[in-house]
Amino acid sequence: MKRPVAAVVGTGRGLPAHVMTNHDFASIGIETSHEWIVERSGIVERRLARNGETTCSMAADASRKAMEVAGVHPGEIDIIVLSTATPDRLLPSTAVDIQAELGATRAAAFDVGAACAGWLYAMSTAEGLIMSGTAETALVIGSEKMSAIVDWKDRATCVLFGDGAGAAVLKRSRHHGKGILSAYMRSDGKLADLLYRPEGGATVPMSVEVLEKRSHLVKMAGREVFKHAVRSMSDAADRALDGARLTGSDIDLLIPHQANVRIIEATAKHSGIPMDKVYVNVDKYGNTSSASIPIALDEAIESGRIKDGTTVMMVAFGAGFTWASMVIRF
Ligand code: UT7
Repeated sequence: MKRPVAAVVGTGRGLPAHVMTNHDFASIGIETSHEWIVERSGIVERRLARNGETTCSMAADASRKAMEVAGVHPGEIDIIVLSTATPDRLLPSTAVDIQAELGATRAAAFDVGAACAGWLYAMSTAEGLIMSGTAETALVIGSEKMSAIVDWKDRATCVLFGDGAGAAVLKRSRHHGKGILSAYMRSDGKLADLLYRPEGGATVPMSVEVLEKRSHLVKMAGREVFKHAVRSMSDAADRALDGARLTGSDIDLLIPHQANVRIIEATAKHSGIPMDKVYVNVDKYGNTSSASIPIALDEAIESGRIKDGTTVMMVAFGAGFTWASMVIRF
């Protein structure tokens, strides 16, 4: 009997309509320039949640599209795994709000926190539940309202991030040689202080003082993070290729986490993957943290860059530090 695999059977994305361009930072008093942002990061514009858009509402938009493509009814979903660093509330999980919003009445729902690498962590978690027989059908979402946690007075970070969501329906399948071929995850908590929100959690709860210090907002040592991102994403790519018994030349499309086009180029170069086989949309959306890979995946499928038989490698790195990779054959 053929061994079952977990296969992606539908994807969707949920992006706010509101566009903020690099030129718009002048209107909120940020001393920066379009040229600096493009040269250092590749970002041209980003989407921002407005008019009541939330992590839950963007996730629900992405999920409805993914379920429609998959031909899956909300009542058939066994597990909802949401990756987010920006839950709508701290208790309960945002995944249960999505479960209620979608009417996924049979689903167990929970959040996964692994920052920008979170969607690949969520995919691995869902794959494990599918392979163990606990679930048949999973909805795996990355949704982020980064605009709520960046410091809009810190030009070194506020120009980099954006809001959005992406989702995939994962199903047990017996298509030999298709589905998730390999997955890899790592972390190094000793480096947590290079990219974090220092206060406003349970240790130092939110207070007037925290608000005044702005210590509940994202702090990032950009140059350090950059170096670790290149090293760890390159290593993760090697591990995913080894796990799938493939080399860089077997990869039809690389979908890296979209934080910075220079990190993307360095990762692709390390794996010997030419840039025409790399999906890049950081110019349009900025860094949407764990939503970046599922948004890119959905766009790549919609535009025909992923078809039946396409082998895709995904690689991510984020706060923690956490990093992860996965190879999927469609
Ligand atoms: O998704 C999770 C992972 N996150 C990342 O992967 C982000 C990784 N880091 C990066 O992408 C890059 O480090 C940045 C894009 C954040 C910054 O690029 P950089 O080439 O590392 O620049 P830098 O931070 O070293 O700053 C260079 C200069 C500084 O000025 P001085 O000290 O050289 O005079 C900054 O003050 O650029 C200045 N600067 C800015 N100038 C104009 C910083 N932010 C800005 C800005 N506009 N927005």
